[in-house]
Amino acid sequence: MAGGNALGVIRSLIGKLERDKPLVGRALSEAVAQIKAAADARSVELAEIMRRDLLEAERLDLTELHEAPPLGRLHVITQTQQRLEDVFCAMGYTVAEGPEIETEWHNFGALNFPPGHPARDMYDTLYVDHGPPGSTLLRTHTSPVQVRVMENQSPPLYVVAPGRCYRQDTADATHMPVFHQIEGLVVDDGITLGDLAGAIETFTTAYFGPGFTSRLRPSYFPFTEPSAEFDVQRPDGTWLELGGCGVVHPSVLEVCGVDPERWSGFAFGFGIDRLAMLRYGIGDLRDLWTNDVRFLEQF
Ligand code: DAH
Repeated sequence: MAGGNALGVIRSLIGKLERDKPLVGRALSEAVAQIKAAADARSVELAEIMRRDLLEAERLDLTELHEAPPLGRLHVITQTQQRLEDVFCAMGYTVAEGPEIETEWHNFGALNFPPGHPARDMYDTLYVDHGPPGSTLLRTHTSPVQVRVMENQSPPLYVVAPGRCYRQDTADATHMPVFHQIEGLVVDDGITLGDLAGAIETFTTAYFGPGFTSRLRPSYFPFTEPSAEFDVQRPDGTWLELGGCGVVHPSVLEVCGVDPERWSGFAFGFGIDRLAMLRYGIGDLRDLWTNDVRFLEQF
């Protein structure tokens, strides 16, 4: 029996009552009102439930990755280079850069290596097919940045220049045809070999730690006079050969536009890759280039 119809039947039955007709009529009206209110409240609830179910069913999962993506990091050579820059900046040096493709003049000529000079044989130079044959090359060391700094700035100069260098070399555990050096150049009033030794010693303790010390050994480079190799002594007493250095040759100052009667300077240069190998206990230089994440993520 339909609701509307049932109500009609009850109402006509009430009409036939002999007594309490108004009372029963009112009670019926109240019951109807209560049922209606309950039904209204429930339909509000149901509408809300339906809305929630619909939203849940239509939800889009935009989180494709459920784990945070792995974080990258700087290459161990970059980290080493930045640390060296930090140490030298703290000592008052600024950082300079030069091109990796160099002129023969900047890499050799201005540094007092005349054409055919035997010291050129130390460098297995890679020449670039550009300009007259032999005029352009991949820099074999960072020393040409010394020349560029002196050509473009006036003393006093306190500069380091880190960067890539190239030599014709077969890759093995300790050699790579591409490697990194950092060069230092100081030009100021009355600079002597003593200032060089002091700077190397300050760097040694700042970079390696208080238990380390340094020494200079006589050597030869065409662009410094006197020239030296510098070594670092570890706390266990063993020595580590680090690089070359010396008092800048007056002819080098002169060709770079610095008056050797007025100014003097010192320079040094050493390999960054070997430093990183020692610091992190890396056994094979080639691992620095294969870009195997399992190797690189250790540093
Ligand atoms: N350029 C030299 C090399 O690669 C290293 C060097 C020696 C740099 C003496 C210097 C220096 O600045 O004074 O073998």
